[in-house]
Amino acid sequence: MGKVGWQSPSNIALIKYWGKFGVQLPKNPSLSFGLSDAYSQISIQYSSKHSEKAEHKFLFEGNENHAFGDKIIRFLNELDTIFPFLKQLDLQIESKNSFPHSAGIASSASSMSALALCLCSIEKELIGSLQKENNFYQKASYIARLGSGSASRSVYGGYSIWGEFSELKQSSNDFAIPFNSEIHLLFMQIRDSILIVSDQEKTVSSRAGHALMNGHPYAEARILQSKKNLKKLITALKVGDANSFIEIVENEALSLHALMLSSNPWYSLLLPNTLKILEKIREFRNKSKLFICFTLDAGPNVHLLYLEENKSQILEFIDKELVEFCFEGKIIHDKIGFGPKRII
Ligand code: PMV
Repeated sequence: MGKVGWQSPSNIALIKYWGKFGVQLPKNPSLSFGLSDAYSQISIQYSSKHSEKAEHKFLFEGNENHAFGDKIIRFLNELDTIFPFLKQLDLQIESKNSFPHSAGIASSASSMSALALCLCSIEKELIGSLQKENNFYQKASYIARLGSGSASRSVYGGYSIWGEFSELKQSSNDFAIPFNSEIHLLFMQIRDSILIVSDQEKTVSSRAGHALMNGHPYAEARILQSKKNLKKLITALKVGDANSFIEIVENEALSLHALMLSSNPWYSLLLPNTLKILEKIREFRNKSKLFICFTLDAGPNVHLLYLEENKSQILEFIDKELVEFCFEGKIIHDKIGFGPKRII
């Protein structure tokens, strides 16, 4: 009998993963930073199974009948060969998020990474493997990836990269790697205010969106573009080049949505207020000359990126010019975080 628990954050991609092949392998490399205050907490209580078949129970915020629970249980069943001990254990899994379901933040990255970290901790405790920190996080990232691609990047704090990239020998399609040692200090104080344009479930899931990249007329060009952008962004992050950062990050966000618009069938997750906010950000940047830009996830909400040192001016701008375009004035203020932590 034992219990483990991890808190793991959501992350926001600057270079977007879009399109996959094989078993959750990315068609292109991606880069993100982990958030600080948007996280999931998962605990797993385990004990030797009481009946023939191990019993895996899942509670989301105290509630047993959550659709997400079925997804987690199915996922655990698929992990039988990687973690053979799962067949021998009854599990009681409890999960909660620091952000409301209606916030429009995808919880798959934070919850799948928290779950993967818990499973690796159980392996470490029961089997005695994964003692080396490096191996532990690599396996956690690998498992998280199987649950949700972008979750592979959430097991590390700060910046991380997932997907093979010829200029980074350690990079892999199987797991993400941390990418912090050479980041300019400027980008270690980055903030992300998430402007909630809509809190509705998306009309087209990411799974369906990834699938539409198969046979997409711009697929090859997209893969090349993401690699070029990644190379340029890595240089910008190292030397502290804010202008290149802005150019690349906004190009990535809009390219992601352009791919959706040019899919067959086409679709768009952008809303009129999303575009109004983007225009306002550009106007304000031109006027103020401050470091401020946007990125977008697969949804209508805008991630406003800026520096801690400009926080008061940016919050004033949000209040005066952006809040009116947000659903019920909802905004979640977050910042770069330092990764998951073990809580039990
Ligand atoms: O991890 P998934 O399958 O939910 O895909 C996420 C894809 C984007 O969020 C749009 C981009 C990314 O790299 O996180």
